[in-house]
Amino acid sequence: MKYNFDEYIDRRGTDCIKYDGMAPFYDVSDLLPMWIADMDFKSPPCVIDALRRRIEHGVYGYSLPSPQWETAITDWLKRRHGWYVQPGELGFVGGIVPALAFVLEAFTNEGDAILMQPPVYHPYSFVTRDLKRTPVYNPLKLVDGQYEIDFEDFERKASRSKVFFLCNPHNPGGRVWTFDELHRMAEICARYNVLVISDEIHCDMPLKGYHHTPFALVGPEAAQNSITFMAASKTFNVAGLKSSYHIIPNDDIRERFARFLRYRELDTAHLFATEAIAEAYNHGEEWLEQMLEYVEGNVDYMQEYIRTHMPRLDMIRPQASYLVFLDARGLDMTDDEIMHFFTHDARVAVTSGAVYGEGGSGFVRFNLGCPRHTLHLALERIKQAYDNLQ
Ligand SMILES: Cc1ncc(COP(=O)(O)O)c(C=O)c1O
Repeated sequence: MKYNFDEYIDRRGTDCIKYDGMAPFYDVSDLLPMWIADMDFKSPPCVIDALRRRIEHGVYGYSLPSPQWETAITDWLKRRHGWYVQPGELGFVGGIVPALAFVLEAFTNEGDAILMQPPVYHPYSFVTRDLKRTPVYNPLKLVDGQYEIDFEDFERKASRSKVFFLCNPHNPGGRVWTFDELHRMAEICARYNVLVISDEIHCDMPLKGYHHTPFALVGPEAAQNSITFMAASKTFNVAGLKSSYHIIPNDDIRERFARFLRYRELDTAHLFATEAIAEAYNHGEEWLEQMLEYVEGNVDYMQEYIRTHMPRLDMIRPQASYLVFLDARGLDMTDDEIMHFFTHDARVAVTSGAVYGEGGSGFVRFNLGCPRHTLHLALERIKQAYDNLQ
């Protein structure tokens, strides 16, 4: 490999949430952090060079989402996803979670029902509740070790919802939804006039044998009834740049959302983000391929380790990205006991599955976007705690 993903980089003392922000969540600050979803790898050299160039310029005034940024993204979408996004359909927004809140404010009213598929990325329900909208749940079904959609229930719930938060690919379940699954959801949402918000932040990281389908590509009813959010945040490990984008093919939806962002100045680009992100999309592809290969190796390593040493644990093998939903139901513990086991016995920081809503109980989310040695240490710690259970 040209890039060294085995390199250990000490992130402590850099104000990163993963290491330096652990205490409020775990009451301790010296766990091996396998929780929040960023990676312990350096970003591609082209990103670091772009940031350095920008810093050295020395003037840090207001900045635009540049034409180069736009071209880099539209070229990437064409090349990697077969999506021919037209100029003007793309816009900057400083983070997908904030953007979910903007969507609710721009398109819904208090009390409106917002559909989501738990166990799912927890800010979906947090933001919904905080804005006094009502989360409506279409729980996923775990079938033969992978999540599936209960379409009958989906249609029932969609028929009374205003917005659907689709996690595509899914976090924490790791599912890469198929064309047919997306098409079916698109058709139902169009029938009941439910605006689909497709959160595709993990879209660039399908693992071997899987292919990401952008929701908007499954048909005109999907394109015309959706807002897609994407970002380089996970792809190139630049979440701290707080930079993402929306793609909205429908003129009315786009104008309404753009107006909401414009008058609050939420659409101005972050100075350090645009050039770095354009460089990542233009020159980071080889890095991404090798990173994915390394992550796939980590998934294999973890699966084999668990099978061999901890048969009461199991894992849902992710079809995309570096998050593993680890099945700890075999330990016969409550969620609090499971978290005590990982935090205080194994001294590893993971996220309780209960946070992700219905179906998450008994699971924990484990982030393996790290050097293999770190993963090995975490697994060794868990094994030691596991062996001590009686
Ligand atoms: C599905 C999903 N959406 C959104 C985010 C966060 O997006 P942002 O950092 O742009 O707010 C994450 C981060 O883990 C995620 O997994």
